[in-house]
Amino acid sequence: MPVIAHISDLHFGTEDPAVAEGLLADLCEIQPALLVNSGDLTQRGRASQFIAARAFLDRIPFPQLTVPGNHDIPLYDVTRRFLAPLARYRRYIAKELCPMFQTEQLAVMGVNTARSFTWKNGRISLDQIEQIKSTFCAMPFPLFKVLVTHHPFVPPPDDPSPALVGRGGQAIDALDACGADLLLAGHLHRHYSADAKTHHVHIKRTILVAQAGTAISRRRRNEPNAYNLITLIPPEVEIQVRAWSGQKFEPIASTRYMKIENHWTRQPDSG
Ligand SMILES: [Fe+2]
Ligand SMILES: [Fe+2]
Repeated sequence: MPVIAHISDLHFGTEDPAVAEGLLADLCEIQPALLVNSGDLTQRGRASQFIAARAFLDRIPFPQLTVPGNHDIPLYDVTRRFLAPLARYRRYIAKELCPMFQTEQLAVMGVNTARSFTWKNGRISLDQIEQIKSTFCAMPFPLFKVLVTHHPFVPPPDDPSPALVGRGGQAIDALDACGADLLLAGHLHRHYSADAKTHHVHIKRTILVAQAGTAISRRRRNEPNAYNLITLIPPEVEIQVRAWSGQKFEPIASTRYMKIENHWTRQPDSG
């Protein structure tokens, strides 16, 4: 039963230490097969913030797959922002900007969407779309295929205004053709799950989307600190939101989907 814990937007520099300890305790109890971290590990891309993020990640004894977010590129240090935007991220967090994790049932690919010029809004390049295609299209269809980005493909259900990842429409066509199942992202500090087809109406299949809130930062958007726990029990997948109660992380919502003829169908008893 592969379980992915999906955390995002740690924003070291604005972290709540009690919540950070609570998250570590919850993760150590759950023992996920993989920890996905969808970016914004730091608040301002400072060395001290990356060192704190690194020390936190070193205490998590599971495989990890991480992508950077816009806050991992220094905003005000313009020399570094344009000449070496992800140098500190690569030094302290991960050298690989297109990480992969694969088992017999599961393939997870990360793509960097953070950019120096459009600092807040992210983008996928044409080369990255080609890489998504060559990776996912070469894999057997029944494999559960997951793409991790920092910037979202689908807006929150109650707010169509946030900017989505640039060139997301083109990327989603490739993901559709190659049988991607799930898109994991953060950036908005809001948790929600959806079917990408509700926004990208032209795609042929359903592609699930799970957005994570901020796991430990005080930069909350009227929601508690939270993260996603994704459990794969083919042909079903459960996306559970675990939120900070003030004392511990506990489940606050759970949505189950079943794959029927390549379409993910939300199950009626979902929360
Ligand atoms: Fe963020
Ligand atoms: Fe962000």
